[in-house]
Amino acid sequence: MNVYDAGRMADVMAADGYVRTDRADAADVAVLNTCHIREKAAEKLYSDLGRLRPRSRAGGAPVIVVAGCVAQAEGAEIMRRAPWVDVVVGPQTYHRLPELVRRARAGERGLLDIDFPLESKFDRLPEEAASQGPSAFLTIQEGCDKFCSFCVVPYTRGAEYSRPVDAVKAEARRLLEGGAREITLLGQNVNAYHGAGPGGGAEWGLGRLIRALAEIPELARIRYTTSHPRDMDADLIAAHGEVPTLMPYLHLPVQSGSDRVLAAMGRRHTAGDYLGLVDRLRAARPDIALSSDFIVGHPGEDEADFEATIALVRAVGYAQAYSFKYSPRPGTPAATAEGQIDEARKADRLARLQDLLTAQQDEFNRATVGRVVPVLFDRRGRKPGQVAGRTPAMQAVHLCCEDPPSLLGEIRDVTITEAHANSLAGASIDRPPQPSPGCAHEAAENGRPN
Ligand code: 5AD
Ligand code: SF4
Repeated sequence: MNVYDAGRMADVMAADGYVRTDRADAADVAVLNTCHIREKAAEKLYSDLGRLRPRSRAGGAPVIVVAGCVAQAEGAEIMRRAPWVDVVVGPQTYHRLPELVRRARAGERGLLDIDFPLESKFDRLPEEAASQGPSAFLTIQEGCDKFCSFCVVPYTRGAEYSRPVDAVKAEARRLLEGGAREITLLGQNVNAYHGAGPGGGAEWGLGRLIRALAEIPELARIRYTTSHPRDMDADLIAAHGEVPTLMPYLHLPVQSGSDRVLAAMGRRHTAGDYLGLVDRLRAARPDIALSSDFIVGHPGEDEADFEATIALVRAVGYAQAYSFKYSPRPGTPAATAEGQIDEARKADRLARLQDLLTAQQDEFNRATVGRVVPVLFDRRGRKPGQVAGRTPAMQAVHLCCEDPPSLLGEIRDVTITEAHANSLAGASIDRPPQPSPGCAHEAAENGRPN
Protein backbone atom coordinates (compact mmCIF):
# COMPACT_ATOMS: atom_id res chain seq x y z
CA MET A 1 0.00 0.00 0.00
CA ASN A 2 2.82 2.42 0.82
CA VAL A 3 4.62 1.60 -2.43
CA TYR A 4 1.41 2.35 -4.29
CA ASP A 5 0.84 5.59 -2.37
CA ALA A 6 4.42 6.71 -3.07
CA GLY A 7 3.73 6.17 -6.78
CA ARG A 8 0.57 8.27 -6.56
CA MET A 9 2.52 11.06 -4.83
CA ALA A 10 5.07 10.94 -7.65
CA ASP A 11 2.15 11.22 -10.11
CA VAL A 12 0.72 14.37 -8.48
CA MET A 13 4.17 15.96 -8.21
CA ALA A 14 4.89 15.22 -11.89
CA ALA A 15 2.35 17.92 -12.81
CA ASP A 16 4.72 20.46 -11.24
CA GLY A 17 7.69 19.05 -13.14
CA TYR A 18 9.14 16.86 -10.40
CA VAL A 19 10.79 13.54 -11.22
CA ARG A 20 11.84 10.78 -8.87
CA THR A 21 15.42 10.44 -7.72
CA ASP A 22 17.07 7.79 -5.57
CA ARG A 23 19.63 10.30 -4.33
CA ALA A 24 18.37 12.16 -1.25
CA ASP A 25 21.26 14.63 -1.49
CA ALA A 26 20.17 15.66 -4.99
CA ALA A 27 16.50 16.11 -4.15
CA ASP A 28 14.61 19.40 -4.08
CA VAL A 29 11.88 17.69 -2.07
CA ALA A 30 12.33 14.71 0.24
CA VAL A 31 9.17 12.77 1.06
CA LEU A 32 9.21 10.28 3.94
CA ASN A 33 6.22 8.01 3.45
CA THR A 34 5.56 6.45 6.82
CA CYS A 35 3.88 3.43 8.38
CA HIS A 36 2.25 3.49 11.81
CA ILE A 37 1.28 -0.16 12.13
CA ARG A 38 3.90 -1.06 14.74
CA GLU A 39 6.04 1.09 17.00
CA LYS A 40 9.26 0.04 15.27
CA ALA A 41 7.99 1.31 11.92
CA ALA A 42 6.91 4.63 13.44
CA GLU A 43 10.19 5.17 15.32
CA LYS A 44 12.10 4.78 12.07
CA LEU A 45 10.71 8.15 10.99
CA TYR A 46 12.51 10.01 13.75
CA SER A 47 15.88 8.43 13.00
CA ASP A 48 15.43 9.16 9.27
CA LEU A 49 14.49 12.76 10.11
CA GLY A 50 17.61 13.11 12.25
CA ARG A 51 19.70 12.20 9.22
CA LEU A 52 17.83 14.65 6.98
CA ARG A 53 18.15 17.56 9.41
CA PRO A 54 19.58 20.41 7.37
CA ARG A 55 22.74 22.01 8.66
CA SER A 56 21.45 25.36 7.45
CA ARG A 57 18.50 26.73 5.53
CA ALA A 58 20.86 28.20 2.96
CA GLY A 59 22.52 26.06 0.32
CA GLY A 60 19.46 24.45 -1.25
CA ALA A 61 18.33 22.12 1.54
CA PRO A 62 15.39 20.03 0.34
CA VAL A 63 11.81 20.69 1.39
CA ILE A 64 11.09 17.90 3.88
CA VAL A 65 7.68 16.25 3.72
CA VAL A 66 6.36 13.60 6.11
CA ALA A 67 3.49 11.65 4.54
CA GLY A 68 1.49 8.54 5.42
CA CYS A 69 -0.01 7.15 8.59
CA VAL A 70 2.52 8.46 11.12
CA ALA A 71 1.82 11.91 9.66
CA GLN A 72 -1.91 11.29 10.14
CA ALA A 73 -1.54 10.06 13.71
CA GLU A 74 1.26 12.25 15.05
CA GLY A 75 1.26 15.36 12.83
CA ALA A 76 1.67 18.02 15.53
CA GLU A 77 4.12 15.85 17.49
CA ILE A 78 6.32 15.51 14.38
CA MET A 79 6.45 19.28 13.95
CA ARG A 80 7.40 19.62 17.63
CA ARG A 81 10.09 16.92 17.65
CA ALA A 82 11.53 17.85 14.25
CA PRO A 83 10.88 21.54 13.56
CA TRP A 84 12.90 21.30 10.33
CA VAL A 85 10.02 19.37 8.76
CA ASP A 86 8.26 21.67 6.28
CA VAL A 87 5.10 19.72 5.39
CA VAL A 88 3.08 16.99 7.11
CA VAL A 89 0.43 15.37 4.92
CA GLY A 90 -1.91 12.48 5.77
CA PRO A 91 -2.84 9.61 3.45
CA GLN A 92 -6.21 11.13 2.49
CA THR A 93 -4.90 14.46 1.16
CA TYR A 94 -2.03 13.65 -1.21
CA HIS A 95 -3.78 15.57 -3.96
CA ARG A 96 -2.85 18.78 -2.08
CA LEU A 97 0.87 17.90 -1.91
CA PRO A 98 1.98 20.08 -4.89
CA GLU A 99 0.32 23.15 -3.40
CA LEU A 100 1.81 22.47 0.04
CA VAL A 101 5.29 22.09 -1.46
CA ARG A 102 4.85 25.31 -3.47
CA ARG A 103 3.96 27.15 -0.28
CA ALA A 104 6.91 25.63 1.58
CA ARG A 105 9.29 26.67 -1.17
CA ALA A 106 7.88 30.19 -0.92
CA GLY A 107 8.97 30.22 2.72
CA GLU A 108 5.92 29.05 4.69
CA ARG A 109 6.70 26.76 7.61
CA GLY A 110 4.77 24.23 9.64
CA LEU A 111 2.28 23.18 6.95
CA LEU A 112 0.05 20.49 8.41
CA ASP A 113 -2.68 18.81 6.32
CA ILE A 114 -4.22 15.80 8.01
CA ASP A 115 -7.84 16.36 7.06
CA PHE A 116 -10.03 13.36 6.89
CA PRO A 117 -12.35 14.00 3.94
CA LEU A 118 -15.28 11.61 3.99
CA GLU A 119 -15.35 11.09 0.27
CA SER A 120 -12.47 9.25 -1.29
CA LYS A 121 -9.18 10.76 -2.21
CA PHE A 122 -9.24 8.85 -5.48
CA ASP A 123 -11.65 11.28 -7.15
CA ARG A 124 -9.16 14.07 -6.65
CA LEU A 125 -5.98 12.35 -7.75
CA PRO A 126 -4.89 12.49 -11.39
CA GLU A 127 -4.97 9.36 -13.48
CA GLU A 128 -2.24 6.87 -12.72
CA ALA A 129 0.64 8.19 -14.83
CA ALA A 130 3.78 6.21 -14.34
CA SER A 131 4.13 2.69 -15.62
CA GLN A 132 4.70 0.27 -12.77
CA GLY A 133 6.30 -2.42 -14.93
CA PRO A 134 5.15 -6.01 -15.48
CA SER A 135 3.75 -6.45 -11.97
CA ALA A 136 1.49 -3.58 -10.89
CA PHE A 137 -0.57 -2.59 -7.85
CA LEU A 138 -4.08 -1.22 -8.09
CA THR A 139 -5.82 0.07 -4.96
CA ILE A 140 -9.50 -0.83 -5.09
CA GLN A 141 -10.39 -0.35 -1.46
CA GLU A 142 -9.15 1.70 1.47
CA GLY A 143 -9.74 1.93 5.16
CA CYS A 144 -11.31 -0.50 7.57
CA ASP A 145 -14.33 -0.62 9.86
CA LYS A 146 -13.31 -3.73 11.79
CA PHE A 147 -11.47 -2.09 14.68
CA CYS A 148 -9.45 -5.09 15.80
CA SER A 149 -8.24 -4.39 19.34
CA PHE A 150 -4.57 -3.94 18.39
CA CYS A 151 -4.81 -2.09 15.08
CA VAL A 152 -4.40 1.59 14.14
CA VAL A 153 -5.59 1.24 10.55
CA PRO A 154 -9.23 2.29 11.19
CA TYR A 155 -7.88 5.44 12.87
CA THR A 156 -5.17 6.37 10.36
CA ARG A 157 -6.83 5.22 7.13
CA GLY A 158 -10.41 5.90 8.07
CA ALA A 159 -13.71 4.29 7.19
CA GLU A 160 -13.98 1.49 4.64
CA TYR A 161 -14.35 2.78 1.07
CA SER A 162 -14.50 0.87 -2.24
CA ARG A 163 -13.78 2.39 -5.65
CA PRO A 164 -16.45 1.98 -8.34
CA VAL A 165 -16.00 -0.89 -10.81
CA ASP A 166 -15.68 1.51 -13.76
CA ALA A 167 -12.77 3.36 -12.13
CA VAL A 168 -11.02 0.08 -11.31
CA LYS A 169 -11.44 -1.25 -14.86
CA ALA A 170 -10.17 2.02 -16.37
CA GLU A 171 -7.09 1.99 -14.17
CA ALA A 172 -6.47 -1.69 -14.95
CA ARG A 173 -6.50 -0.88 -18.69
CA ARG A 174 -4.04 1.97 -18.20
CA LEU A 175 -1.70 -0.29 -16.24
CA LEU A 176 -1.87 -2.94 -18.98
CA GLU A 177 -1.15 -0.32 -21.65
CA GLY A 178 1.87 0.65 -19.54
CA GLY A 179 3.21 -2.89 -19.77
CA ALA A 180 1.64 -4.68 -16.78
CA ARG A 181 0.99 -8.43 -17.12
CA GLU A 182 0.00 -8.96 -13.49
CA ILE A 183 -2.21 -6.78 -11.28
CA THR A 184 -2.41 -7.07 -7.51
CA LEU A 185 -5.65 -5.57 -6.23
CA LEU A 186 -4.90 -3.75 -2.98
CA GLY A 187 -6.85 -2.76 0.07
CA GLN A 188 -6.47 -2.84 3.84
CA ASN A 189 -9.50 -5.08 3.79
CA VAL A 190 -9.61 -5.88 0.10
CA ASN A 191 -12.16 -8.69 0.23
CA ALA A 192 -14.65 -6.36 1.93
CA TYR A 193 -14.76 -4.73 -1.53
CA HIS A 194 -18.26 -3.55 -2.45
CA GLY A 195 -17.79 -0.98 -5.23
CA ALA A 196 -20.62 0.53 -7.26
CA GLY A 197 -21.29 -1.61 -10.32
CA PRO A 198 -20.83 -0.42 -13.93
CA GLY A 199 -22.58 2.88 -14.61
CA GLY A 200 -23.15 3.37 -10.87
CA GLY A 201 -25.30 0.23 -10.66
CA ALA A 202 -25.75 -2.27 -7.83
CA GLU A 203 -22.61 -3.03 -5.83
CA TRP A 204 -20.23 -5.79 -6.83
CA GLY A 205 -18.19 -7.97 -4.50
CA LEU A 206 -14.55 -8.89 -5.06
CA GLY A 207 -15.31 -12.25 -6.70
CA ARG A 208 -17.42 -10.58 -9.37
CA LEU A 209 -14.79 -7.87 -9.94
CA ILE A 210 -12.09 -10.51 -10.40
CA ARG A 211 -14.22 -12.44 -12.89
CA ALA A 212 -14.76 -9.23 -14.91
CA LEU A 213 -11.07 -8.28 -14.89
CA ALA A 214 -10.17 -11.83 -15.95
CA GLU A 215 -11.97 -11.17 -19.25
CA ILE A 216 -9.30 -8.64 -20.26
CA PRO A 217 -7.03 -10.78 -22.47
CA GLU A 218 -3.81 -8.86 -21.74
CA LEU A 219 -4.15 -9.50 -18.02
CA ALA A 220 -2.20 -12.70 -17.37
CA ARG A 221 -2.24 -12.79 -13.58
CA ILE A 222 -4.54 -11.44 -10.87
CA ARG A 223 -3.82 -11.30 -7.14
CA TYR A 224 -5.38 -9.48 -4.18
CA THR A 225 -4.26 -8.53 -0.70
CA THR A 226 -4.95 -8.19 2.28
CA SER A 227 -8.01 -10.20 3.19
CA HIS A 228 -10.01 -10.75 6.36
CA PRO A 229 -11.34 -14.28 7.01
CA ARG A 230 -14.83 -12.91 7.71
CA ASP A 231 -15.08 -11.49 4.19
CA MET A 232 -14.17 -14.64 2.21
CA ASP A 233 -17.61 -15.15 0.65
CA ALA A 234 -18.72 -18.15 -1.40
CA ASP A 235 -18.36 -16.34 -4.73
CA LEU A 236 -14.76 -15.32 -3.99
CA ILE A 237 -13.84 -18.84 -2.87
CA ALA A 238 -15.44 -20.26 -6.02
CA ALA A 239 -13.50 -17.76 -8.15
CA HIS A 240 -10.29 -19.42 -6.94
CA GLY A 241 -11.41 -22.61 -8.63
CA GLU A 242 -12.93 -21.04 -11.73
CA VAL A 243 -10.68 -18.16 -12.79
CA PRO A 244 -7.41 -19.52 -14.20
CA THR A 245 -5.66 -16.13 -14.06
CA LEU A 246 -6.42 -15.75 -10.35
CA MET A 247 -3.13 -16.97 -8.91
CA PRO A 248 -3.15 -19.88 -6.43
CA TYR A 249 -1.81 -17.85 -3.54
CA LEU A 250 -3.71 -16.15 -0.74
CA HIS A 251 -2.53 -13.98 2.12
CA LEU A 252 -5.21 -14.60 4.74
CA PRO A 253 -4.13 -13.28 8.15
CA VAL A 254 -5.40 -15.25 11.14
CA GLN A 255 -3.32 -13.41 13.83
CA SER A 256 -3.81 -16.14 16.47
CA GLY A 257 -4.93 -19.75 16.80
CA SER A 258 -6.57 -19.26 20.21
CA ASP A 259 -10.31 -18.61 20.35
CA ARG A 260 -9.85 -16.69 23.59
CA VAL A 261 -7.26 -14.37 22.03
CA LEU A 262 -9.22 -14.07 18.78
CA ALA A 263 -12.22 -12.91 20.83
CA ALA A 264 -10.06 -10.42 22.76
CA MET A 265 -8.72 -9.16 19.44
CA GLY A 266 -12.27 -8.62 18.19
CA ARG A 267 -11.60 -10.73 15.10
CA ARG A 268 -15.13 -12.16 15.04
CA HIS A 269 -14.08 -15.65 13.96
CA THR A 270 -12.72 -18.73 15.70
CA ALA A 271 -9.76 -20.95 14.83
CA GLY A 272 -12.29 -23.54 13.67
CA ASP A 273 -13.95 -21.02 11.33
CA TYR A 274 -10.55 -20.29 9.81
CA LEU A 275 -9.64 -23.96 9.36
CA GLY A 276 -13.04 -24.53 7.73
CA LEU A 277 -12.32 -21.68 5.34
CA VAL A 278 -8.93 -23.19 4.47
CA ASP A 279 -10.68 -26.50 3.68
CA ARG A 280 -13.15 -24.75 1.36
CA LEU A 281 -10.37 -22.84 -0.39
CA ARG A 282 -8.38 -26.05 -0.89
CA ALA A 283 -11.48 -27.83 -2.18
CA ALA A 284 -11.88 -25.06 -4.77
CA ARG A 285 -8.17 -24.82 -5.62
CA PRO A 286 -6.15 -27.76 -4.27
CA ASP A 287 -2.76 -26.19 -5.01
CA ILE A 288 -3.49 -22.86 -3.29
CA ALA A 289 -0.51 -21.58 -1.29
CA LEU A 290 -1.42 -19.85 1.96
CA SER A 291 0.20 -17.02 3.84
CA SER A 292 -0.77 -15.27 7.07
CA ASP A 293 0.10 -12.63 9.63
CA PHE A 294 0.53 -13.58 13.28
CA ILE A 295 0.77 -11.52 16.44
CA VAL A 296 2.34 -13.08 19.53
CA GLY A 297 1.93 -11.61 23.00
CA HIS A 298 -1.40 -9.86 22.58
CA PRO A 299 -2.61 -8.78 26.05
CA GLY A 300 -3.92 -11.81 27.92
CA GLU A 301 -2.16 -14.42 25.73
CA ASP A 302 -0.95 -17.29 27.92
CA GLU A 303 1.17 -20.30 27.07
CA ALA A 304 -1.86 -22.42 26.14
CA ASP A 305 -3.10 -19.71 23.78
CA PHE A 306 0.30 -19.58 22.14
CA GLU A 307 0.31 -23.38 21.79
CA ALA A 308 -3.06 -23.08 20.03
CA THR A 309 -1.41 -20.80 17.47
CA ILE A 310 1.35 -23.36 16.94
CA ALA A 311 -1.30 -26.06 16.49
CA LEU A 312 -3.15 -23.97 13.91
CA VAL A 313 0.07 -23.37 11.95
CA ARG A 314 0.73 -27.11 11.93
CA ALA A 315 -2.83 -27.81 10.80
CA VAL A 316 -2.71 -25.31 7.90
CA GLY A 317 0.85 -25.62 6.58
CA TYR A 318 1.85 -22.19 5.30
CA ALA A 319 3.89 -21.38 2.21
CA GLN A 320 5.12 -18.23 3.91
CA ALA A 321 4.05 -15.86 6.69
CA TYR A 322 4.75 -12.69 8.62
CA SER A 323 4.87 -12.72 12.41
CA PHE A 324 5.20 -9.92 14.91
CA LYS A 325 5.47 -9.22 18.61
CA TYR A 326 2.41 -7.35 19.80
CA SER A 327 3.21 -3.63 19.76
CA PRO A 328 0.92 -1.33 21.77
CA ARG A 329 -0.43 1.43 19.54
CA PRO A 330 -1.71 4.68 21.02
CA GLY A 331 -5.49 5.02 20.98
CA THR A 332 -6.23 1.32 20.41
CA PRO A 333 -8.12 -0.67 23.08
CA ALA A 334 -5.43 -3.34 23.47
CA ALA A 335 -2.80 -0.75 24.38
CA THR A 336 -4.51 -0.10 27.72
CA ALA A 337 -5.91 -3.63 28.29
CA GLU A 338 -5.02 -5.75 31.30
CA GLY A 339 -2.54 -8.57 30.95
CA GLN A 340 0.25 -6.95 28.91
CA ILE A 341 2.98 -9.51 28.15
CA ASP A 342 6.61 -8.76 28.90
CA GLU A 343 9.12 -8.35 26.08
CA ALA A 344 11.18 -11.44 26.92
CA ARG A 345 8.12 -13.70 26.72
CA LYS A 346 7.03 -12.10 23.44
CA ALA A 347 10.52 -12.58 22.00
CA ASP A 348 10.58 -16.23 23.08
CA ARG A 349 7.17 -16.96 21.51
CA LEU A 350 8.09 -15.12 18.33
CA ALA A 351 11.27 -17.15 17.95
CA ARG A 352 9.39 -20.43 18.45
CA LEU A 353 6.68 -19.45 15.97
CA GLN A 354 9.20 -18.27 13.39
CA ASP A 355 11.15 -21.51 13.65
CA LEU A 356 8.04 -23.42 12.67
CA LEU A 357 6.99 -20.98 9.92
CA THR A 358 10.50 -20.97 8.45
CA ALA A 359 10.54 -24.76 8.41
CA GLN A 360 7.21 -24.79 6.60
CA GLN A 361 8.41 -22.21 4.08
CA ASP A 362 11.59 -24.20 3.43
CA GLU A 363 9.58 -27.34 2.92
CA PHE A 364 7.22 -25.56 0.53
CA ASN A 365 10.13 -24.16 -1.48
CA ARG A 366 12.06 -27.43 -1.53
CA ALA A 367 9.00 -29.22 -2.91
CA THR A 368 9.30 -27.00 -6.01
CA VAL A 369 12.80 -28.22 -6.90
CA GLY A 370 12.77 -30.28 -10.08
CA ARG A 371 9.36 -28.99 -11.11
CA VAL A 372 8.56 -26.79 -14.10
CA VAL A 373 6.70 -23.63 -13.08
CA PRO A 374 5.55 -20.56 -15.02
CA VAL A 375 7.49 -17.50 -13.88
CA LEU A 376 6.57 -13.90 -14.65
CA PHE A 377 9.85 -12.03 -14.93
CA ASP A 378 9.29 -8.55 -13.56
CA ARG A 379 12.70 -7.17 -12.65
CA ARG A 380 16.42 -7.53 -13.09
CA GLY A 381 18.32 -9.42 -10.42
CA ARG A 382 21.07 -7.83 -8.38
CA LYS A 383 23.85 -9.55 -10.29
CA PRO A 384 24.68 -8.64 -13.87
CA GLY A 385 22.86 -10.93 -16.24
CA GLN A 386 20.38 -12.03 -13.62
CA VAL A 387 16.63 -11.68 -14.01
CA ALA A 388 14.01 -12.20 -11.30
CA GLY A 389 10.36 -13.07 -11.22
CA ARG A 390 7.62 -14.83 -9.30
CA THR A 391 5.97 -18.22 -9.46
CA PRO A 392 2.15 -18.41 -9.23
CA ALA A 393 2.67 -19.08 -5.50
CA MET A 394 4.67 -15.82 -5.13
CA GLN A 395 8.05 -17.48 -4.71
CA ALA A 396 10.89 -15.29 -5.98
CA VAL A 397 12.87 -16.98 -8.76
CA HIS A 398 16.28 -15.93 -10.00
CA LEU A 399 17.49 -17.03 -13.36
CA CYS A 400 21.07 -16.58 -14.37
CA CYS A 401 22.71 -15.44 -17.48
CA GLU A 402 19.74 -15.05 -19.74
CA ASP A 403 19.37 -11.82 -21.66
CA PRO A 404 17.41 -9.88 -18.99
CA PRO A 405 15.71 -7.20 -21.15
CA SER A 406 14.18 -9.78 -23.45
CA LEU A 407 12.66 -11.70 -20.52
CA LEU A 408 11.14 -8.77 -18.61
CA GLY A 409 7.36 -8.94 -18.79
CA GLU A 410 7.52 -12.52 -20.11
CA ILE A 411 6.01 -15.59 -18.53
CA ARG A 412 8.25 -18.62 -19.11
CA ASP A 413 8.20 -22.18 -17.93
CA VAL A 414 11.21 -22.59 -15.69
CA THR A 415 12.74 -25.72 -14.21
CA ILE A 416 13.49 -25.00 -10.58
CA THR A 417 16.98 -26.15 -9.75
CA GLU A 418 17.60 -24.91 -6.21
CA ALA A 419 15.63 -23.72 -3.17
CA HIS A 420 17.07 -21.08 -0.84
CA ALA A 421 15.56 -19.63 2.34
CA ASN A 422 13.59 -16.92 0.56
CA SER A 423 13.93 -17.62 -3.13
CA LEU A 424 14.36 -20.24 -5.80
CA ALA A 425 16.89 -20.56 -8.58
CA GLY A 426 15.93 -21.86 -11.95
CA ALA A 427 17.02 -22.62 -15.46
CA SER A 428 14.78 -21.73 -18.37
CA ILE A 429 13.50 -24.90 -20.07
CA ASP A 430 14.54 -23.27 -23.33
CA ARG A 431 18.12 -24.10 -22.38
CA PRO A 432 19.88 -26.67 -20.25
CA PRO A 433 20.88 -25.49 -16.73
CA GLN A 434 24.03 -23.37 -16.91
CA PRO A 435 26.04 -23.12 -13.72
CA SER A 436 27.74 -19.75 -13.70
CA PRO A 437 30.23 -18.72 -11.02
CA GLY A 438 29.80 -15.01 -11.80
CA CYS A 439 26.12 -15.07 -11.08
CA ALA A 440 25.60 -16.52 -7.61
CA HIS A 441 21.99 -16.48 -6.46
CA GLU A 442 21.06 -14.10 -3.72
CA ALA A 443 18.48 -15.21 -1.24
CA ALA A 444 17.31 -11.87 0.05
CA GLU A 445 13.95 -11.68 -1.70
CA ASN A 446 10.67 -12.16 0.03
CA GLY A 447 12.24 -11.30 3.38
CA ARG A 448 10.14 -10.97 6.45
CA PRO A 449 9.78 -7.45 7.77
CA ASN A 450 11.16 -6.71 11.22
N1 5AD B 1 1.29 -5.12 16.95
C1 5AD B 1 1.86 -6.09 16.23
N2 5AD B 1 1.46 -6.40 14.98
C2 5AD B 1 0.46 -5.68 14.45
N3 5AD B 1 -0.16 -5.75 13.26
C3 5AD B 1 -1.11 -4.80 13.21
N4 5AD B 1 -1.14 -4.11 14.35
C4 5AD B 1 -0.18 -4.64 15.15
C5 5AD B 1 0.27 -4.36 16.46
N5 5AD B 1 -0.28 -3.41 17.20
C6 5AD B 1 0.16 -6.75 12.26
C7 5AD B 1 -1.04 -7.66 12.01
C8 5AD B 1 -1.50 -7.22 10.65
C9 5AD B 1 -0.21 -6.78 10.01
C10 5AD B 1 -0.34 -5.89 8.82
O1 5AD B 1 0.47 -6.11 11.05
O2 5AD B 1 -0.57 -9.00 11.98
O3 5AD B 1 -2.16 -8.23 9.92
FE1 SF4 C 1 -6.53 -3.69 11.21
FE2 SF4 C 1 -7.00 -5.67 9.44
FE3 SF4 C 1 -8.33 -5.59 11.82
FE4 SF4 C 1 -8.87 -3.78 9.90
S1 SF4 C 1 -9.21 -6.03 9.80
S2 SF4 C 1 -8.61 -3.37 12.09
S3 SF4 C 1 -6.84 -3.46 8.98
S4 SF4 C 1 -6.09 -5.90 11.49
